[in-house]
Amino acid sequence: MIKIDILTLFPESFSPLKTSILDNAVENGLLEFNIINIRDFSKDKHKKCDDYPFGGGAGMLMTVQPLFDAINSVYEKDAKIIFPSPVGEVLSVKKAQTLSKYEHLIFVCGHYEGVDERIFELFPIEQISIGDYVLTGGELPTMVIIDCLSRFVDGVLSSDSLTDESFSNGLLEYPQYTRPQEFMGLKVPDVLVSGNHGEVEKWRKKQSLERTKSRRSDLLNNTQD
Ligand code: ADE
Repeated sequence: MIKIDILTLFPESFSPLKTSILDNAVENGLLEFNIINIRDFSKDKHKKCDDYPFGGGAGMLMTVQPLFDAINSVYEKDAKIIFPSPVGEVLSVKKAQTLSKYEHLIFVCGHYEGVDERIFELFPIEQISIGDYVLTGGELPTMVIIDCLSRFVDGVLSSDSLTDESFSNGLLEYPQYTRPQEFMGLKVPDVLVSGNHGEVEKWRKKQSLERTKSRRSDLLNNTQD
């Protein structure tokens, strides 16, 4: 069971966690989500949680006090605090696997132009990026990271779902087909209905390699095979 606390100014953003595989994982006692509104911790009389940056510049920053008190309300030794941010290390399968081993994760969602940097001195916080682009807040990246790590929590997926997928062997996944065998004149490749498992394996490996070469040649330096 992983307990996942999510601190955010926009708790309503997290309804996607209540669907499909993640919701089943909650029902089965594998994950627990606790969504906390940072605004509830603001000591400002108007519950303000943002202010202008010292030194000037565009936009508003999240102030440190509500963040500090919100984190303090859930923090315990051994919990891992994550702040999704484009300045963090980019999420990888390996990172998601590492995160899936924690018993308690705390996600802190930034919004506006960012947060007062002192929060990173007050708690051990790891910043993680989901890619080299900038989103309007940390809510979507938090859900991306949670979705990705949940797949490595025992029991969330069926046991063989992780072995053949993209990146599991350093390559992109091969194409797949299901019924019907022919649709709008398009047929499933013969080899897949031949019943010859050796040939199917060979075909899939070749497809994986070709896809990776043409779409993500950067991955070929990392193949583990
Ligand atoms: N917040 C805004 N953009 C982000 C990104 N690319 N990754 C993680 N958090 C973010």
